[in-house]
Amino acid sequence: MTTYLNNPDAVRALVQPDRVHRDLYINQEIFHLEQTHFFANTWNYAGHESQIPDAGDWISNDIGGRPLLVVRQADGSIKAMMNRCAHKGSRLVSAPSGNTGKHFRCPYHAWTFKTDGSLLAIPLRNAYENTRLNECESGKGLTGLTHLRTYRGFIFLKINDAGPDFETYFGDSLSSIDNMADRSPQGELEIAGGCLRFMHHCNWKMFVENLNDTMHPMVAHESSAGTAKAMWADKPSDMEKPMAIEQFAPFMSDYKFFDDMGIRTYDNGHSFTGVHFSIHSKYKALPAYDQAMQARYGAEKTAAILGIARHNTVYYPNLTIKGAIQSIRVVKPIAVDRTLIESWTFRLKGAPPELLQRTAMYNRLINSPFSVVGHDDLHAYKGIQAGLQASGNEWVSLHRNFDESEIRGGEITTGGTNELPMRNQYRSWSRYMTETM
Ligand code: FES
Ligand SMILES: [Fe+2]
Repeated sequence: MTTYLNNPDAVRALVQPDRVHRDLYINQEIFHLEQTHFFANTWNYAGHESQIPDAGDWISNDIGGRPLLVVRQADGSIKAMMNRCAHKGSRLVSAPSGNTGKHFRCPYHAWTFKTDGSLLAIPLRNAYENTRLNECESGKGLTGLTHLRTYRGFIFLKINDAGPDFETYFGDSLSSIDNMADRSPQGELEIAGGCLRFMHHCNWKMFVENLNDTMHPMVAHESSAGTAKAMWADKPSDMEKPMAIEQFAPFMSDYKFFDDMGIRTYDNGHSFTGVHFSIHSKYKALPAYDQAMQARYGAEKTAAILGIARHNTVYYPNLTIKGAIQSIRVVKPIAVDRTLIESWTFRLKGAPPELLQRTAMYNRLINSPFSVVGHDDLHAYKGIQAGLQASGNEWVSLHRNFDESEIRGGEITTGGTNELPMRNQYRSWSRYMTETM
């Protein structure tokens, strides 16, 4: 069996231009190396500013297996640090979010730290006189993260110094976040309600690939979306569709629809489906919302903003967004065959409540652990996770519409059923996985 530890050439060999080796999905060493290198060398989503509006507010998170804290400071800025006490290593907080006031206090021996992570106090501190505490890491407080950027409220972190800066990494793919925020009559988003957490028994990459896999909906979702569509088939065409039917039915569109939709890929693994239109384009107009948008932007700009209705945008590797629906899904790898998917809904500030109702319904129907559609995808991922144990073929085919020229990278717009987004993800995976090996 191949050993991948300290063997970047063996890791690179897993990704060929038009296919990838099954070990990407089922090998424990590869999972371990991803946590150590890949997720530390890439920019990852860590939360939204609206979750921490006040000084002392924090959210905890895990990126690449490292426990992290993102904290609002008294001056309004945001800092990130390891959620790891400088004394003996305890996590400082164990809940997903909270407010710490002016300092964090470790639950084990009560060392305290300011919200910027610097060491504030130690019980019976004089016992450290004439020791080397102040000369070592532990005397300096919590380990800070220097690579933090917020973009339209989205907070991104990169753990290592390796890898490109934020702008270079995401480039023009940020237009999908722009469109989601521009859909607010105030140009701002805020997280609304809680988080739907859905454990997937599969490798994280299967989920991320699937977001731009348009050859599966009409097949995998036939039993769910197909049933909803059939229920509505004999209704008069001018009869107003219930919101649920409006959301389910487009999943059953044909291959031509998804191909015409178009796909765009960017360097570093990012991509979106729905260049020209998407399954979200035909939702009925909401007049109060249109009025609020036009009052802010004018008719022409409103039409331009709402005319963009992208399907899924992948901010590689851990954030996927649906701008037209104002929801995001965050990917949290737990084990080689286990991935937690978090779904969050957003309120468009200044928009009427129907918009949030539409978002919440979509997330319930499609993305939540109680959803009808999401289980179809999960069934497919579990099937792949099991199927890849077979012998006789160790490769996963990503040949569809492969073209040598795509290897040069840059922004590429192509047909919506091309498997280019997946090949693009793996070229990026190979780079960031081996960058620090
Ligand atoms: S481990 Fe935190 S104070 Fe001891
Ligand atoms: Fe699906």
